[in-house]
Amino acid sequence: MKITAFGVRPDERQHLERWTRQRGDHLVQTTALLTPETVAQAAGSTGITSFQTVPYEAGVFNRMSQLGIKALALRNTGTDNVDFAAAAHYGVRVTNVPAYSPSAIAEFALADMLYLLRQTGRVQRDLHADCYQQATTHIGRELRTSTVGVIGTGRIGSSLIASLNGLGATVLAFDPHPSTEPRLQFEPVSFQALLRRSDIVTLHVPGTPENTHLIDAAAIARMKPGSLLINTGRPNLVATTAVIAALQSGHLGGVGIDTFEHETADLLALEAAGHFTDPQWQTLLAMPNVILSPHIAYYTETAVRNMVDTALQALHDLTERQASDCEVYPEAG
Ligand code: NAD
Ligand code: COI
Repeated sequence: MKITAFGVRPDERQHLERWTRQRGDHLVQTTALLTPETVAQAAGSTGITSFQTVPYEAGVFNRMSQLGIKALALRNTGTDNVDFAAAAHYGVRVTNVPAYSPSAIAEFALADMLYLLRQTGRVQRDLHADCYQQATTHIGRELRTSTVGVIGTGRIGSSLIASLNGLGATVLAFDPHPSTEPRLQFEPVSFQALLRRSDIVTLHVPGTPENTHLIDAAAIARMKPGSLLINTGRPNLVATTAVIAALQSGHLGGVGIDTFEHETADLLALEAAGHFTDPQWQTLLAMPNVILSPHIAYYTETAVRNMVDTALQALHDLTERQASDCEVYPEAG
């Protein structure tokens, strides 16, 4: 089977080559994103796999249909950049990777919590300023004696709760459909109670329109003075203006953000686009009690391997048995 892989990053190559070699597939790889202009590079392929955060437009599906290519396997989870109506119109079936490694994101959220609890940013700042003595003055807090409020108990939230249980933290959680996994220990509470009682609030919900600014000025006002906020979910979940105001007033003790509200659409090509500038990003970057990252909570060796393997398996499944557990249907997009 001939497969063309678009948007290939250096870390994916070994996995794409290993998997297709084992199956006897013919692999064509390109760093180009999948656009109406580049899709012709896949001529003669049975399926396409792609990884990008910019849109998959109608023109892509039109050209795929003309080339007789009926399967597109995304190598990530989010499908909000796919024009599903166009895919269906042109008879292209789309798959994603629903869970390449929930623990990758859960562990990243945990790392942010520990960084903030131990005031690592302040210690680093003092050491860089050659203030060794001052760097010994930032007393930490422990997870074991903290109450963590987990919003969203799906794949990532559940993985995080398991880790927090192991570390001895008290866990509260809010989800309209809370996990029923018996090994997880948490107290299900309302959104308001979670805000009021938590030392740390962490977000693991989708970026649906209803969840936009789930954490706004009113929600922050209900949080405990000195509490921490972590967002590794989606950029629209948190009102950054309100967060900055609460950090400046001291009401929030610290913030960890992996999914920044004004991140660029083309996340994966930032390097080519030059450096990232945004006034709010610069303000946050200058604060020692803020830890920022450029939407990389997912980015581990395990996750990348699983992204590639699952996408290629999905292409085979769609081709050989006309069905894949990873197929995303238009109404879900
Ligand atoms: P999931 O679908 O398994 O779970 C999401 C849970 O959120 C569900 O249980 C749902 O009932 C709950 N939920 C929805 N709205 C809610 C609300 N307003 N309040 C409380 N609960 C609510 O999703 P997942 O795989 O656990 O992913 C969680 C988030 O992490 C998603 O936004 C996903 O896109 C994001 N994510 C981030 C990265 C990254 O690199 N930063 C990588 C992958 C996924
Ligand atoms: C996802 O898989 O949904 C992510 O957030 C990772 C991103 C690189 C697209």
